[in-house]
Amino acid sequence: MMTEQLTRSQEAIALEEKYGAHNYHPLPVVLARGEGVYVWDVEGKKYFDFLSAYSAVNQGHCHPRIIEAMTKQAQTLTLTSRAFYNDKLGEFAQFMTEYFGYDRVLPMNTGVEGGETAIKLCRKWGYTVKGIPENKAKIIFVQHNFWGRTLSAISTSNDKGSYQHFGPYMTGFEIIPYNDLKSLAEALEDKNVAGFMLEPIQGEAGVVVPDEGYLREAYNLCKANNVLFIADEVQTGLARTGRLLACDYEDVKPDILILGKALSGGTMPVSAVLANDEIMLTLKPGQHGSTYGGNPLACAVTMEALKVLKEENLAENAYHLGKIFRKRMSDLAEYSKVLFAVRGKGLLNAIIINDTPESETAWNICLKLAENGLLAKPTHGNIIRFAPPLTMTEKQLLECCDIIEKTIKEFEMQ
Ligand SMILES: Cc1ncc(COP(=O)(O)O)c(C=O)c1O
Repeated sequence: MMTEQLTRSQEAIALEEKYGAHNYHPLPVVLARGEGVYVWDVEGKKYFDFLSAYSAVNQGHCHPRIIEAMTKQAQTLTLTSRAFYNDKLGEFAQFMTEYFGYDRVLPMNTGVEGGETAIKLCRKWGYTVKGIPENKAKIIFVQHNFWGRTLSAISTSNDKGSYQHFGPYMTGFEIIPYNDLKSLAEALEDKNVAGFMLEPIQGEAGVVVPDEGYLREAYNLCKANNVLFIADEVQTGLARTGRLLACDYEDVKPDILILGKALSGGTMPVSAVLANDEIMLTLKPGQHGSTYGGNPLACAVTMEALKVLKEENLAENAYHLGKIFRKRMSDLAEYSKVLFAVRGKGLLNAIIINDTPESETAWNICLKLAENGLLAKPTHGNIIRFAPPLTMTEKQLLECCDIIEKTIKEFEMQ
């Protein structure tokens, strides 16, 4: 009997299916190379990357300056642990604090560790500065937040898929509706509240943009109640939404700022928490850390990745291209039966598909988009997030709009 020859893609998928944990449901595309806004699969097919690894690749794939900084540092010194000083961390800390305008930075690795760090810091501040009785500190979160998969993160989640069967959960968290100032004001009446943590635009929830003024007013409410305003800008930060930080749109300076993803331009896990002395210096030696946090390789890469953001005007580009993108999509939505609406800021956008969240339509559109040379992924069933690298040119963006339009029109016929 003849055994059917598998393609290279099928082989790679089969291996992952057989030997890997089944904790993801990827599109059946096997990528082997990336450059700028493009990625190529193992068969050599070229695609526009319209996800950018969930906004980690804002600077484009394998940005030559970032790769050069990485290679140079990798050949010199990669890891010392924090048992010793290294010659890059101090320079990095100065660079980061000047770049973002804070007294101090605490480097970690993944985004979720950034969130964990922010919570620990907030609690410590709550007990030692605000004077909350021990073990009574409370942190407010909003519905549909997403900040990762650790036990603390899922303890703040109202998404059953994230938390079910993983209890018992962390206590000291309260979840209120997003974009609802009245609920926030009520929650803040509790004197044991130490912090309010949120994404300025909810990424994973489907690019949910709050009303104009929400962030500013939420910040004011926090100030009035001596509560820390904690912004999770892991996905929205670093030029993605058309400003350096999404909070910049409302001139809000978070008390604790969490960054991750694009800090390294998609080359390695780097996250960071920024705060001023009153908050950051509540942590003493031995109370928090990570073997890899602040490693010289991450420091060198991050400084270069942040220089690229500024020197290539990526926030301005995201702002400009985002407007063009949403105009094209909303024009399409006017007569489309399939595309219901578009929303977002800068180059963090999503289209809403006119079907139920349980339907396969958005998934099938993404399969068709891939066939037509553009990679994107549904979130929450009927929403497709579009977040290309910010190095995209206007000409490339228009080409991508044509691909999306063509694909959606193919679905109109069905
Ligand atoms: C807003 C936000 N915060 C935190 C995280 C967690 O980041 P990581 O996956 O690097 O732990 C994510 C990941 O998607 C995110 O979108």
